[in-house]
Amino acid sequence: MEDNNLELLTDVTVFKHNLWVFEYADRMEKWFSGFKQAPIRIDAELHTRCNLNCRMCARRDSIYERFTEEERNRIEMPTKKWVQIAEESGKMGVKAWNISGLCEPLVKPEILFPTMKMIKAYDMFGELTTNGTLWTEKYIKETIEIGWDSVCISIDASDTKNHDYLRGVKGTFEKATNTLKTFHKLRERYKANLPVITINVVLNKFNYLKLKSIVEMADNLGADAIFVEPIVVFNEEGKLLKINENDIKKFQEVLKESKKLAADYGIVLDVTAVAPGKSFSGEKIFDKELIEKTGNFREILMRDVKSSSNFIFSIPCYYPWFYMMIKANGNVTHCGECKIEKENIKNKSLQEIWEGKTFTEIREQFIKNKLPEYCEKCRPNTIEDMRIVRKSIDEFRNTDFLRGKYLEFLEENKRLKQDLFLLKRKVYGDDKRCIKCKYKGELSKFNNSLTYKVFSRFWGTKIEKISKKIKDRTF
Ligand SMILES: C[S@@+](CC[C@H](N)C(=O)[O-])C[C@H]1O[C@@H](n2cnc3c(N)ncnc32)[C@H](O)[C@@H]1O
Ligand code: SF4
Ligand code: SF4
Repeated sequence: MEDNNLELLTDVTVFKHNLWVFEYADRMEKWFSGFKQAPIRIDAELHTRCNLNCRMCARRDSIYERFTEEERNRIEMPTKKWVQIAEESGKMGVKAWNISGLCEPLVKPEILFPTMKMIKAYDMFGELTTNGTLWTEKYIKETIEIGWDSVCISIDASDTKNHDYLRGVKGTFEKATNTLKTFHKLRERYKANLPVITINVVLNKFNYLKLKSIVEMADNLGADAIFVEPIVVFNEEGKLLKINENDIKKFQEVLKESKKLAADYGIVLDVTAVAPGKSFSGEKIFDKELIEKTGNFREILMRDVKSSSNFIFSIPCYYPWFYMMIKANGNVTHCGECKIEKENIKNKSLQEIWEGKTFTEIREQFIKNKLPEYCEKCRPNTIEDMRIVRKSIDEFRNTDFLRGKYLEFLEENKRLKQDLFLLKRKVYGDDKRCIKCKYKGELSKFNNSLTYKVFSRFWGTKIEKISKKIKDRTF
């Protein structure tokens, strides 16, 4: 990863952190004090088409696979409607869009790019998940020009054989890795910081022992981050691919080594089952339940809120208060797993649905602690989302905590300064050409620290000047 990207990654990480900490905590508090808030995030499935046949995907047994071309054309919404929805969401105060769903967004670039443009016209955060097989240089260039924030390319193995097997189509690995390389190359060429490029990995029997080689691959291809999500079982293939208790134990060891390697390369490695610990900003803990119990999550969701006497913390799922999923046929739900689809946006506005009967009723149901059957299939990272919302509300209500954080912040600043001086001395005798590669792990540690970012943004400290000098080797 190049130095200019360290800055950008910090920005995206800080953006996501702020979104959770401030936006979610703040909007939930307001909702429960009687003030309606706009959704924070929209997930969009732009159409019903995909060019692959991945073994673990929910699409395999879904109706999408059986549609005729005529049926697809009839149910899918036109570009104009998607652009209009994006515009309305920007006006409402939505903060982020994630384009994914049970399709490959790039199969319909004529819908994708105008929608992306409108999302960025309202300065919302844009994320897109893709299998990486249908990109051309033209599309990549356009994505960079739009200022799109984040592209997640799904790559489940570091070799052709396993990835192509999991994805059901030969040649997939080569195409996806080429796309990633091209993103990296063009970002360099246009001296752009965005989009951040993440490799999405579905954790399964074939790859759980090979995370280190995926980190190596990420570094070779020029990815900024790796996001690992345990497989959710949707079908028989999924059952076979899921890792068992023994595998999880081994995976914990692999994860430790992989984290270290990723840190050396300056790559962010995010694993869903490594959940926030006691406090949102505290040490993360490994939660093997989130891998083990995929497909049986209702019990965990209810247990998480069982002991709380505080109203806001007793709600098992906050999705209906901050999230909307818009499907290819225009159906709108509060969650991707919800199959009871009563709302459709083809003839309604976003606001009408958000404040309408269906969303109001589901909020009331969740306040009464009643979770529908489909919540068994909740996603591990969604469970983490819920925990993070609770922790962030809790932390930011607590003034002692905030005071402690401020002191910690000052202490870290002092430590960073000392570490940087030491690094400067080390770098001094080195060959100028080697600095960026040899010290990129250490530099990324400084640049990614929140303290560094906040101090340099507001006050322009000595730390920033030294770090810049090390990067440019100008002293
Ligand atoms: C459904 S896909 C849609 C976007 C695009 N077609 C792709 O494959 O990236 C969204 C993400 O879900 C992941 N995924 C697919 N099946 C999954 C499963 N059973 N459990 C967890 N994640 C899964 C994919 O690897 C991808 O990263
Ligand atoms: S490419 Fe994405 S949507 Fe298509 S089958 Fe694979 S995981 Fe599912
Ligand atoms: S599946 Fe998860 S996100 Fe969806 S409604 Fe249930 S608990 Fe909430």
